[in-house]
Amino acid sequence: MNSTLYKAWLQYAPIEDRELAAAYSRQLGTIVVDQQQSRVANAAVQELKHACQSMLGIVPNITSEALNSSHLEVRIHVGAAAAAEGAAEGITEAMDRGRADTQLDPEGFTLVHSGQGQQEKLVLIGGSGKGILYGVFHLLRLLASHQPLTGLKVADQPVNRLRMINQWDNVDGTVERGYSGQSIFYENGRFTDNLERVRDYARLLASVGMNAISINNVNVHEIETRFITAEYLPTVAKVADIFREYGITLYLSINFAAPLHIGGVSTSDPLNEEVRQWWKDAADEIYDHIPDFGGFLVKADSEHRPGPFAYGRDHADGANMLAEALEPHGGLVIWRCFVYNCMQDWRDRSTDRARAAYDHFTPLDGRFKDNVLLQIKNGPMDFQVREPVSPLFGSMKETNQVLEFQVAQEYTGQQRHVCYLVPQWKEVLDFDTYADGAGSEVKKITNGSLHGMKYSGIAAVSNIGNDENWTGHTLAQANLYGFGRLIWNPELSSEGIAEEWTRLTFGNDESVVKTVCRMLMQSWPIYESYTSPLGVGWMITPHTHYGPDVDGYEYSRWGTYHFADRDGMGVDRTMATGTGYTAQYFEPNAALYDSLEDCPDELLLFFHHVPYSHMLKSGKTVIQHIYDTHFEGAEAAAGLLDAWTSLEGKVDPERFAQVAQRLADQAEHAKHWRDVINTYFYRKSGVPDDSGRIIY
Ligand code: GCU
Repeated sequence: MNSTLYKAWLQYAPIEDRELAAAYSRQLGTIVVDQQQSRVANAAVQELKHACQSMLGIVPNITSEALNSSHLEVRIHVGAAAAAEGAAEGITEAMDRGRADTQLDPEGFTLVHSGQGQQEKLVLIGGSGKGILYGVFHLLRLLASHQPLTGLKVADQPVNRLRMINQWDNVDGTVERGYSGQSIFYENGRFTDNLERVRDYARLLASVGMNAISINNVNVHEIETRFITAEYLPTVAKVADIFREYGITLYLSINFAAPLHIGGVSTSDPLNEEVRQWWKDAADEIYDHIPDFGGFLVKADSEHRPGPFAYGRDHADGANMLAEALEPHGGLVIWRCFVYNCMQDWRDRSTDRARAAYDHFTPLDGRFKDNVLLQIKNGPMDFQVREPVSPLFGSMKETNQVLEFQVAQEYTGQQRHVCYLVPQWKEVLDFDTYADGAGSEVKKITNGSLHGMKYSGIAAVSNIGNDENWTGHTLAQANLYGFGRLIWNPELSSEGIAEEWTRLTFGNDESVVKTVCRMLMQSWPIYESYTSPLGVGWMITPHTHYGPDVDGYEYSRWGTYHFADRDGMGVDRTMATGTGYTAQYFEPNAALYDSLEDCPDELLLFFHHVPYSHMLKSGKTVIQHIYDTHFEGAEAAAGLLDAWTSLEGKVDPERFAQVAQRLADQAEHAKHWRDVINTYFYRKSGVPDDSGRIIY
């Protein structure tokens, strides 16, 4: 496929500005590649070649001879001080940013321009083939956004070590919480034969610096349980091979009960010797096929998935058993903390789902092996439009941690509504946990610096499928792009990332850039305003999680309630009268959330049950806030369509029409949300709207 939809942010559109194109062609017309390049570096050079053809209409001459004329030099520099290689200044800048030492990080690179005329030279040095790859994509971003290379001096390296994407793909071809068609990996109970699209996915991921992928759903069904056996490993190895070429390590989600289900063992008890041996043998077999296999992603004792609880063991017992099997091979166990009672009785007011992960895992701190990482969702519930940051961050000082985001828009409009999530993720990363006093932000936990973790990082559930544009909604591509860029460097701004993505995706027409960036930046607040007031969450259709259903989850077993009655609404999670969840935070966060006066408006109903007449910091009552935000939100959603419509003729017709259609649907659907929510609360409370607007 070669459409603008398909190419996402790797458009490599021809550069029309002749002067600029001539300068780029001179600078990149010859590429001197040092002879001992790795496979990854080769893939990088091929990408560069392809992009030059597409953007500049030239085929760069690739050579290993030293040259005296203008050229790009590509070199890997392992170990010794890269300063000696003429990149001294760049390296110093990187050191100032806090993570480099005198030698290049294996995933880092420097890109320095020098000289002029015949002496002009661009030197790209990577700490390994991966560094070259990331350097090339950096260079291509500059080209695609028409920035001059003269005087360039860049040194960069990722801030987070593990930068992972989780596919929730099933072998039958479906994608759990997938809103972009079917799986690109599987169809009809088997791996797809044509892996070209997987290769393009690897390119997309590598272009934003991702270095790990798990390729099957965390809910591991029957056939997928066998992925770790000789029956499937040769095929898994082929997929691993594609990703390896782009610096991406392959992981598999495993079924904790595999020994029992497919191993001929009568139990999956993690302390049973036969079980332990079974996993060791399984690991040996995997590494025979895939020598650099990343490890296992595990959902255990969660939403009916098997786990150690069945045998009276805990999560440390379970994770450590797997870790022991992978350890000789250098593999990791990524153990998810999404553990809660999904059979709760709604009449039981003492159980609070928000408390569950912390209550389960903090007592186990210090017991996990070195190669275990706990993967923690950003919030205590489940990827809601708005929820507080999980109190687990910072609470387990002796345990490796990975933060889990959801790029897939399960609760945020399912890629039918536009919802640019980078600002939400940034709030999470910037959140100060106070675990070690002020300055203990989540981003210092994911980068491992706060508690000196051996492994750490950030993962996310992917939003792609086999739709031509990958993500259903073309604007949802910005979330995948933005996830990669943000976890590469959490200091990047949401606006900056939006602008990068827009330029790479739609070109450099300033009115397009401005309009699309504004739309993206407005989109999360708009979506929040008509769906999810004041942090309450869950007023959504059960199971499908699309569209409003205020009481859909209210009398169910999932532990997700708003407790609205005629007088008020919200969940009391305070220490004195509620579930005590607020106490899971470090001070001063615990006191902040616990206090009705101090609790931020946007999370008020997450932490407190209040009367509709409660006055917010904004000066509005809770009920008036609900009415106002829903009226305004629906209007703003229509405004998104107007903004996009103004770009007709400036965006290619295919993508223009695709996005316009989705925005029209969103505008319509936002009205439905507005009316269902407003009517519900009007009927409950009997309080009329101050502005006398129509409430049905
Ligand atoms: C949510 C989602 C499920 C998913 C689960 C998980 O509950 O709706 O489809 O399996 O999260 O993260 O494991």
